[in-house]
Amino acid sequence: MNDTIDRAAAWAWDFFQSDSTGHDYHHTKRVASRAVRLAREEEADAGICALAAWLHDIADDKFYHTKGEGAEDVVSFLRSEQLSTESIQAIMEIIDTVSYKGGFNRDPETLEGQIVRDADRLDALGAVGTARTFMFAGAHNSSMHRPGDPLERELDQHAYERRDGSAVQHFYEKLFKLKEGISTASGRREALVLENRMTVFLEWFFEEWEQKAD
Ligand code: ADP
Ligand code: NI
Repeated sequence: MNDTIDRAAAWAWDFFQSDSTGHDYHHTKRVASRAVRLAREEEADAGICALAAWLHDIADDKFYHTKGEGAEDVVSFLRSEQLSTESIQAIMEIIDTVSYKGGFNRDPETLEGQIVRDADRLDALGAVGTARTFMFAGAHNSSMHRPGDPLERELDQHAYERRDGSAVQHFYEKLFKLKEGISTASGRREALVLENRMTVFLEWFFEEWEQKAD
């Protein structure tokens, strides 16, 4: 399994060479490292968690023209690595439940699924999560902040997927809601610390915004 994990990591390196939307190789690497650490703490299958984490964004539809194309590539890779059908199913099931999708995705059915989803969500929080949010907004031609727009908005899945909010609105439409959906105990503790950093960042952000506009 270790060689397969190394080859999945090498694939992620090639795949994300030129991404500037916040889905870079280093995001995937952080998710894989965090998932392995959580798996050890929770006594889950660390190999399955590592593989699902390394491959979770490579399988994501948002990088392809055809729905399901990325998932097929990942299954082909895992088959070529001679993984058992059960392991491949377990990994694909985890990948399917990782994505946030505005909070409308189904929940993971296994501990390993909860762990990889926690690891991915933790990477959306804190200083790194803040940086990723502004990278994403820039890459999608969104505003940094539109004063006057409501910070809290109720969004259905379609509205969330339109991604027409500002980077600052994203903290309220997703990031501050993530902590509630973290499954593991150590993940929840870490989410609290990371959320606090975002709160402090936004306090400074709004204070400077007001002062500098004076
Ligand atoms: P989703 O949460 O819909 O699955 P992604 O996983 O593609 O979105 O998100 C990648 C990164 O970009 C995360 O850090 C996420 O919080 C951030 N992001 C997602 N949507 C937006 C948005 N509309 N504006 C700013 N940042 C976003
Ligand atoms: Ni991810």
